[in-house]
Amino acid sequence: MIPNSETSVVTIDRFIIEQEAMFPEATGELSGILYDLAVAAKMISSKVRRAGLIDILGAAGSDNVQGEHQQKLDVIANVIITKAMDHGGRLCAMASEEEEGVIPIPPQFRCGKYVLLFDPLDGSSNIDVNVPVGTIFSVLRRVTPDGGPGTVQDMLQAGAQQVAAGYVIYGSSTMLVYTTGHGAHGFTLDPSIGEFLLSHQDIRTPNIGKYLSVNDSYERYWSEPVRALMRRYRGLDMQREPMNVRYVGSLVADFHRNLLGGGIFVYPANKQAPSGKLRLLYECNPLAFICEQAGGAATDGRQRLLEIVPGELHQRSPLYIGSRNDVEIATRMLEADR
Ligand code: AHG
Ligand code: MN
Ligand code: MN
Repeated sequence: MIPNSETSVVTIDRFIIEQEAMFPEATGELSGILYDLAVAAKMISSKVRRAGLIDILGAAGSDNVQGEHQQKLDVIANVIITKAMDHGGRLCAMASEEEEGVIPIPPQFRCGKYVLLFDPLDGSSNIDVNVPVGTIFSVLRRVTPDGGPGTVQDMLQAGAQQVAAGYVIYGSSTMLVYTTGHGAHGFTLDPSIGEFLLSHQDIRTPNIGKYLSVNDSYERYWSEPVRALMRRYRGLDMQREPMNVRYVGSLVADFHRNLLGGGIFVYPANKQAPSGKLRLLYECNPLAFICEQAGGAATDGRQRLLEIVPGELHQRSPLYIGSRNDVEIATRMLEADR
């Protein structure tokens, strides 16, 4: 990569340091968490990039893609994040979509003041067909006293309490987008030098979107207000121009396209899944934080998503997230559902 005179090259590490310097009260601990997550993201990216080769290498008798070739990539991603994050002294506990309960910090390491929640590989059923997948993370400050191990209580906080959140998309390039509440910023991995470089500073999502992402094979299980809302987005009730339907089936990929291009991702409750499918703590909250920071909005159809106080770790929530105007339409039209 040879920069020209108009570009400045800013690595994610430098950006994090510069952001931290703007807040004299910052202790650097949150920055440390973000560095470590960027390293984990590079490791997962390199595994994802080899996904199609793992069987070939295994079949050739090399059972050593570190002995992992039979492991599913979401398990590998889960281990990578856990191992990258457990010893920095900044976290007191973790929780993952892939694990039942709280992941403790091993006793030999110091417990810090933050907890990390993550979806190690989102959209993992798409891996076999070479469609983009992602990682999603959320950081909360603990509510139990400093010092000892963190508990589930530290995790069960409303999304508005998040101190940082982000996602990584393993697409045609690998990108990391994060927020600490001061805008949403995107970095693209330059694989030739192994660095995330600032490529999308202060992302702003359009107020009115052009994309609609929804799996409408559930239509027969939707409530009537949800059906009416979808007819509105498609322009069938003549109230607006139809949106373009785009559904990858990897939340991160659908969300990322809509964030940059404008649009709404919808995963409603339905009769078979009364709370929808997506997980509040690992998927909905972190993306809602980023979306709001980019000028967008997110709701579960009843209230601002970030205000929901969770009752359990793996709680699901309906999700309407994206361009502000399109989310407002959902809020209005779903009033009849309440
Ligand atoms: P995960 O792979 O982490 O379990 O998440 C899959 C999710 C999400 O990425 C996607 O938006 C949604 O499942 C798709 O669900 P449907 O197949 O029901 O549309
Ligand atoms: Mn997921
Ligand atoms: Mn997952």
